Amino acid sequence: MVPPSADFIAKAHIDAAGYEKMYAASVADPAAFWAEQGKRIDWIRDYTKVKDTTFDYGQVSIKWFEDGTLNVSANCIDRHVATRGDQTAIIWEPDDPKTPAQHITYAQLLESVSRMANVLKAHGVGKGDRVVLYLPMIPEAAYAMLACARIGAIHSVVFAGFSPDALANRINDSEAKVVITADFAPRGGKKTPLKSNTDKALFDCSDKVKCMVVKHTGDQTTWIDGRDIDVKAEMAAAKPYCAYTEMGAEDPLFILYTSGSTGRPKGVVHTSGGYLVYASMTHQYTFDYHEGDVFWCTADVGWVTGHSYILYGPLANGATTIMFEGVPTYPDAGRFWEVCAKHKVNQFYTAPTAIRSLMGMGPEWVEKHDLSSLRVLGSVGEPINPEAWNWYNTHVGKGKCPIVDTFWQTETGGHMLTPLPGAIPTKPGSATRPFFGVKPVVLDPANAEVKTETETDGVLCIADSWPGQMRTLWGDHERFQEAYFAQYRGYYFTGDGCRRDADGYYWITGRVDDVINVSGHRMGTAEVESALVAHEAVAEAAVVGYPHDIKGQGIYAYVTLMNGVEPTDALRKELEAWVRTEIGPIAKPDLIQWAPGLPKTRSGKIMRRILRKIAENDFGSLGDTSTLADPSVVDELIENRMNRG
Ligand code: PRX
Repeated sequence: MVPPSADFIAKAHIDAAGYEKMYAASVADPAAFWAEQGKRIDWIRDYTKVKDTTFDYGQVSIKWFEDGTLNVSANCIDRHVATRGDQTAIIWEPDDPKTPAQHITYAQLLESVSRMANVLKAHGVGKGDRVVLYLPMIPEAAYAMLACARIGAIHSVVFAGFSPDALANRINDSEAKVVITADFAPRGGKKTPLKSNTDKALFDCSDKVKCMVVKHTGDQTTWIDGRDIDVKAEMAAAKPYCAYTEMGAEDPLFILYTSGSTGRPKGVVHTSGGYLVYASMTHQYTFDYHEGDVFWCTADVGWVTGHSYILYGPLANGATTIMFEGVPTYPDAGRFWEVCAKHKVNQFYTAPTAIRSLMGMGPEWVEKHDLSSLRVLGSVGEPINPEAWNWYNTHVGKGKCPIVDTFWQTETGGHMLTPLPGAIPTKPGSATRPFFGVKPVVLDPANAEVKTETETDGVLCIADSWPGQMRTLWGDHERFQEAYFAQYRGYYFTGDGCRRDADGYYWITGRVDDVINVSGHRMGTAEVESALVAHEAVAEAAVVGYPHDIKGQGIYAYVTLMNGVEPTDALRKELEAWVRTEIGPIAKPDLIQWAPGLPKTRSGKIMRRILRKIAENDFGSLGDTSTLADPSVVDELIENRMNRG
């Protein structure tokens, strides 16, 4: 165990005894606990009802603060303008370090968000309408999200690394009125053509969808008169103030699409009141955020981490938050640390995959920069291996910054298991203990019974609701119940396996469903499979994850070709490129194995367990293969396996 220093504890919001007491209160009487915590944000009309939730399969319903009204954008901006209008709200750090950073004050943020809101209104966007954002990490992304929140529109941010197809699916599923994009997204010195991707996507969407374009790099793009809107020009001409709309606590704030184990990506819906209370509270306690701190979360706003910890949590708390357009290795492997030193960052939050890749470049890139401002380091998205944890602790934190390994999900809105840095001694690789109000339980997957011993393992479920929880899947409450509440009745099922040690610490062991975690990004194996079989040469495909040194998990695809198609290296490259264009670069298979046959049961079901073992190069323990229709395919697959590492 690594305890925080006495010095850290003395300054922290909460110590060990404080955590135990507050946690006990939070689970003993959640309604009383959250009634109090709800006051951390401003309400237009106070709530009288706090918690009305049931996890009963068939009637799952989650409502928090339901009769309260508020506006999320007013909470993130207006209420700070009165007291700290000149304080920097957002520091924008561009991809190219030679371009100066922008410091956007709360007062300036109010003006820019208002102008953007007025542009949206002028184009007919109002309460409840959906707006898809497909943007680089630029201030306009924050303006657009907060502008939607201001007028009650529901934003759905699509990561700029996704393909035109993926973008079109999200625009169509959410029935968006508008898509906001940019000309290009610069990252690591390269430019992704967002406008041209959007043009391609819009071929497959209703021609009523309007396209707002931020001219960011200024490079030439196509322009469709009557459809395309120059956002910056219209913002400049718009009124500088826009009144905010009064919203119900349970009105949707955003939809974020994420991968599930089957079918198309799911539109996770988060609402306004509970989400903001939870994002604000976790941001304060998990990172031990104090007034005046500079907070940096390196995620992209296209993921939930960016929503909760670049934007909503920090801004609700009146923090200075950094928005970084670039990548950790451009122009060199010291960029993260250069930015930390330049802006005197106090809390730094990143993913293990970034730590692992920087670790490989050597500590000299860290040593060059003055990191004395750092107090807390965070990790998110996947289990952090002890080697990466130790490197982060020694070289970045100099042994004095607690590391908060935060376990949570798109669905949970905010942290679920995490150390509080002044209260909970850490163990490398463990997300430690639950956040306030979170009741983790470990269930036996064989019989769905709760395992009561302290030291145990099984699947991780949550026994009761917390305010940041997703409310439904967009347009499909049935699928919501099926995906999260059907398997273990009365519980929210995370999809993760876990172990609880003798100290009551939780260790996430990874997904137990067909979701893989590549560089901290979630990918459904079914999505990659359906992209592969859409290629004319492919008859069948099965995709599994395998351990990857940098990415955590890599994508391993078994591909059966159509009769008569030659398995060549050129075809392998073509299939990789195909998946990149069908879904996006993050879905590109790392290894493709030609599979003349796949291991199937007599009823035709692919035995993924066997494919996983072969991909893991662990075929000594394949288990029972006698139920296979043709057991000989297994030997062939082992013989020609791609991962011999
Ligand atoms: O498997 C868990 C893993 O990431 C999944 C959630 O992915 P996503 O919805 O994309 O959200 C990622 C960022 C919140 C989880 O089901 N995961 C996330 N954080 C951790 C983690 N696994 C281990 N340790 C973590 N700290």
